[in-house]
Amino acid sequence: MTGKPVILVTRRLPRAVEDRLRRDYDARLNPQDDVYSSDRLLDLAAGADAIIPCHTEKLTADVIARLPDTVRAICSFSVGYDHIDLAAAKARGIVVTNTPEVLSGATAEVAILLMLGAARRAHEGARLIREASWNDWSAIGQLGIEVTGKRLGIIGMGRVGQIMARRARGFDMEIHYFNRRRLPPEVEAGAIFHENLDDLLPHCDFLSIHCPATPETYHLVNAELIAQLPDGAVVINTARGAVVDDDALIAALQSGKLFAAGLDVFNDEPNIDSRYKELDNTFLLPHIGSATRETRDAMGFRALDNLDAIMAGREPRDRLV
Ligand code: DGY
Repeated sequence: MTGKPVILVTRRLPRAVEDRLRRDYDARLNPQDDVYSSDRLLDLAAGADAIIPCHTEKLTADVIARLPDTVRAICSFSVGYDHIDLAAAKARGIVVTNTPEVLSGATAEVAILLMLGAARRAHEGARLIREASWNDWSAIGQLGIEVTGKRLGIIGMGRVGQIMARRARGFDMEIHYFNRRRLPPEVEAGAIFHENLDDLLPHCDFLSIHCPATPETYHLVNAELIAQLPDGAVVINTARGAVVDDDALIAALQSGKLFAAGLDVFNDEPNIDSRYKELDNTFLLPHIGSATRETRDAMGFRALDNLDAIMAGREPRDRLV
């Protein structure tokens, strides 16, 4: 017993973040970095004042209903919060926070990586090298499509979408976007706003998804949406897998309706639909949007700033409920 608040930390976090947790709290860390089942999480939460989960823990209404009464806060190490039932937390008076802003730049970098990798067939090229099956240079082999000067459509012009647009301008791309609200002109910076997806989609040589996973965006990228894209378009997803209907995307990649897809997030991670791996026109990454040293430290410190505020009876900066 240290007299300090007890904090359950569900996954292993960067060293500097864990050092701060150990210094300021009675921290229940997870050095093995196991992914806890709901029952294990509930066992470990006994007597805890707060939980720091990642998006890998599903804090459903049922799990939240079974949390001990001692739990006052859930300070997620993530910007996304589709893994937490906010209404259930609110009903129990549990404060929930996330880590916005600090990972926007890193995630936009991965969206650019996916865009380039998918357009320039990076997966196939890398495989030729690694399998030692690159026999000769060819004037007609490995032809991708050029990114420079093309039209980029962005669904969800929040923090990540805006940085993606800024980076894409470096490739002279024409930016189109759909967002719940039109941005002010100085933020839009010449990007073309579309009031609905039907208007946006025909303008997207590349379509990059930056909206959260909500009941409204579930399977937003479905067969009807893809049909409205120009033939040979490229789809990029760094948001959440749930926004994509895998059957529809895979069918469009198989038929050639889409040239390629660059995906960092998937339904049912890490057990992704195996058909993606069989396709040559996919460039796939394992949910690494925020995975830089700088960003993971910043996410941890942001989660701890929120935790510190709640434990001190102050309003946390990133309160969701
Ligand atoms: C986030 O912060 O939401 C990232 O996807 C990592 O969980």
